[in-house]
Amino acid sequence: MTRKILAAANWKMNGSRTANRAWTDSFVPRSAELACNILVCAPSVYLSDLDRAFEGTKVMLGAQDVNEHANGAYTGETAAAMLKDVGCEWVIIGHSERRTLYGDSNERVAAKCRAAHEQGLRVVLCVGETLQEREAGTTIDVVTEQLQAALNAIGPQALAAGALAYEPVWAIGTGKTATPAQAQEVHAALRDAVRAVDPESADALRILYGGSVKPANAAELFAMPDIDGALVGGAALKAEDFYSICASAQV
Ligand code: PGA
Repeated sequence: MTRKILAAANWKMNGSRTANRAWTDSFVPRSAELACNILVCAPSVYLSDLDRAFEGTKVMLGAQDVNEHANGAYTGETAAAMLKDVGCEWVIIGHSERRTLYGDSNERVAAKCRAAHEQGLRVVLCVGETLQEREAGTTIDVVTEQLQAALNAIGPQALAAGALAYEPVWAIGTGKTATPAQAQEVHAALRDAVRAVDPESADALRILYGGSVKPANAAELFAMPDIDGALVGGAALKAEDFYSICASAQV
């Protein structure tokens, strides 16, 4: 089955109105030429601006996190319905920075997935092992457990309506990319875990690789059978680099 490549930008806590305008002015007019699906996940304060900038284009809009509750006394948090309200179609959940810095356990990630799914948001579920876990040989166990928590919460079909992102923690922002073969091995194991529950969803599910993806390595990653796109941090801050990564999906 052929799955269309999804190139997703994760801007993290970067940007300004001026910088974002420069990015969209450069990227958006050329985006129609790109063959892949494109998603930009931005800080929540800029989502409304970007919804306007992407209107009528093929660039989809996403947030970087969501609160697990529907509304109420959760100072500083953002609900799934609010993300929908400002034009988001997608949300990243379970990024390793949230897991390590903000205590997003598998249980909380599952609750966030449920909240997003209830509002019809498509989830980019992030999983990944630390260097210690890789060296201890537990990579597949760790990522499978992370996947399972979300899978139990929203089921395989909702997962396949979104995407799964394999992001080895040791490769994020470090310049160290997993080799295409290393990534492929984990992606295949993740797809097998979904296949055990629902083969059709497993075939449809896009599994993105994330961790120091750049124009120079995107094509070789996309060439692997179970790598269906990328979640791009640092390199997505430059419109030119993100465009090159998207263009790598043509070949
Ligand atoms: P990076 O980040 O591309 O800067 O390594 C990827 C991510 O954290 O999603």
